[in-house]
This record gives sequence, structure tokens and C-alpha cells, in this order.
Amino acid sequence: MDLKHSPLKGRDFLTLLDYTPEEIRYLLDLSAEFKAKKKAGESVRYFEGRNVALIFEKTSTRTRCSFEVAAHDLGMGTTYLDPTGSQIGKKESIADTARVLSGMYDGIEYRGFGQNIVEELAKYSRVPVWNGLTNEFHPTQMLADALTIREHFGSEKGIHVTFYGDCRYNMADSWMVLGAKLGMHVTLCSTAEYFPDVELTARCRRIAEETGGSITLETDPMKAAAGADVIYTDVWVSMGEPDEVWQKRLADLTPYRVTSQIMARADETAANGRITSGPIQDPDTHPQAPHGAVFMHCLPAFHDLGTSTGRKIREKYGINEMEVTDEVFESHDSVVFDEAENRMHTIKAVMAATLE
Ligand code: CP
Ligand code: NVA
Repeated sequence: MDLKHSPLKGRDFLTLLDYTPEEIRYLLDLSAEFKAKKKAGESVRYFEGRNVALIFEKTSTRTRCSFEVAAHDLGMGTTYLDPTGSQIGKKESIADTARVLSGMYDGIEYRGFGQNIVEELAKYSRVPVWNGLTNEFHPTQMLADALTIREHFGSEKGIHVTFYGDCRYNMADSWMVLGAKLGMHVTLCSTAEYFPDVELTARCRRIAEETGGSITLETDPMKAAAGADVIYTDVWVSMGEPDEVWQKRLADLTPYRVTSQIMARADETAANGRITSGPIQDPDTHPQAPHGAVFMHCLPAFHDLGTSTGRKIREKYGINEMEVTDEVFESHDSVVFDEAENRMHTIKAVMAATLE
């Protein structure tokens, strides 16, 4: 682990569009090394005495905990700025905040609204800025997903991923970018109204031409499942969206809920030489055995009534599950908690690779 010569020193991490396939693979390799060290109980306190600021204008469980644990493992201190507890954007501009925080911290994480805000923060910051989610992109999530896919299938190249749901938002956008960069085949599935930005789609398709990947937009959920190694979904209503959107969103996207029929369709039409018939291997003896398509989700997920949002929506619209059925979420094919753990290892790699 030669972090002194990291090729990414001093770089911001705002969207994977700014990173080459080699740079993304470097971060994935580094993440796997950090994960192995964590499992072996080896200390990685390479940044003792440094400090990072964590700005969250939207709420978080995984991203916040990952930044905090990763920073502490690296020997650093952290300051968490919550959605209400700072002057940011209210009494102090992003440009001024960037200049204040870069005088005290070695790196700044930002989660919030427009991508333009994190870009502005990076423009005025003298230390690396890391995007912890904006309306447009969620690049640290993508590294965790790519690492999970690599662990499960042995490689990310050539893997077929189908994303269901709201294809205009951060997760679908980020899937197009990651897939294009790493030579994956990404299908986004929803009604045409929820298809992604035309310019971003065209840009990702140009990148995919060079890497052997592809981007497909599809309205038929069963067609989209054919040949998929990974079935992916995200909530239909994202953080920061108003309550008024729920009714239409549920009506429009219900045909795109991930069900066991969709998983079965993907299994019957396996793309990567997986075992498609016969008994599924015992998960206890073959935890990583390729046995069919996997289900992935960035989380949090609406798959049962275990949340107050879930119960509120159930009262109003009568549904018990939204973007994924509880059956699929809890199934043997679901690797959502592996993804969640990988958030920490990959965020550690991003900080370690980019800090000066
Ligand atoms: N996936 C994800 O970003 O989760 P949090 O919102 O909990 O950080
Ligand atoms: N699209 C979701 C992703 C959460 C990780 C949101 O922005 O709320």
C-alpha cells in the first residue's frame, strides 16, 4: 500500500466522470486491500493527526458512518456538520465555507442538493472535496457497488446490470457513468418519462463505446431482466423531494417493482456462465458461489412496514412494499448488506488516495 505515491493525491472526488477506468480500478484495488487489513485486524493509522469535515445537508446512516469509521481507522479526527447545525448556505456562502474549512481540515465531505454546490465547494477549497451524494451523483456508493460485484462475480467487466425505478436521479445517473467507465452493460428500466438526461446518456454511451460497455433504456420490466447478472433498484422518492410527488410516482413506477418474477427471469437467462439450473449451492459453505442474479440496493429500502415512512405510505396508499418486495430483499440473492459494509472500505480508499 504505497499511499505516498498515490496517483490521486490532492484530487477531488465529485463524480466518476472525472476519473479514468484505471483510476477507478486503482480505488477498487485499494479498497480491497483496506478491507483485507480490517479483517486481519491490522492498523492503518496512516493519517494520524489529520482532520476531516463531514457536511450533511441531507440525512444519512451509511455514508456518515462510513466516513467517520474510515477516518478514525486512518487515525483522523472528524467533525460532523448536520443539516441544521452550521451557517452553510444560510448565513455563509459555499465559497466562504470552503475557504474557512480548508484552513482547518485536510479534506471535506459534502452531501446535499445540486451537483453545482459540491463543484463550487471544490472550486474554493484548498483540500480535497468528496461527494457524499447530490441530486445528480452518488460516486462513493458506486465504488462500493463495484467492489461488491467484483467480490461476487470475480470482475466487473462485462457484467450486466439492470436498474429499475426512477432513472432520472443520482443512482441511475451514477450507474450509467460507472457502467460506461468499467465496460459493463447497464440497462435502465422505467417509463420513458423517467428516462435519464439525454446529454448524460449520450456522453456515457460515447465512453461505453471505448470500454466495450453499453447503455440501454427499456420500458418492459421482463425484457430488461433478461441476461441481467445484477438487478438493482432505489427508492422511488428521493431525499429532498416534496410529499406531493408520492401519488404519481407510485402509480407510474409500480410496474417496475423488483419481484421474484424479475429475479427468476434474470436467472433463466444468465449472462455470465452462471449455474442456471439445479440446486442453489449452500450459502454457508459457498458464500460467494455464483448461483444466479444478485439483488442490489443502495439502501435505505422500502420493503416492509418497519419504518414510519413505510407505515405512513401504507395508510395513505395501501402498499406494504415499494421498489422491492420483502421476499426479494430478504432472499438468498440479496447482497445489500455486503454493499453497505463495502461503503466503509471504499470511502477509506477514496480518502487515503486523495489526501495530501
Ligand atoms: N446508501 C446511502 O447513501 O445511504 P445513507 O443515505 O444512509 O448514507
Ligand atoms: N436516490 C436516493 C439515494 C439514497 C442513497 C436519494 O437521493 O434519496
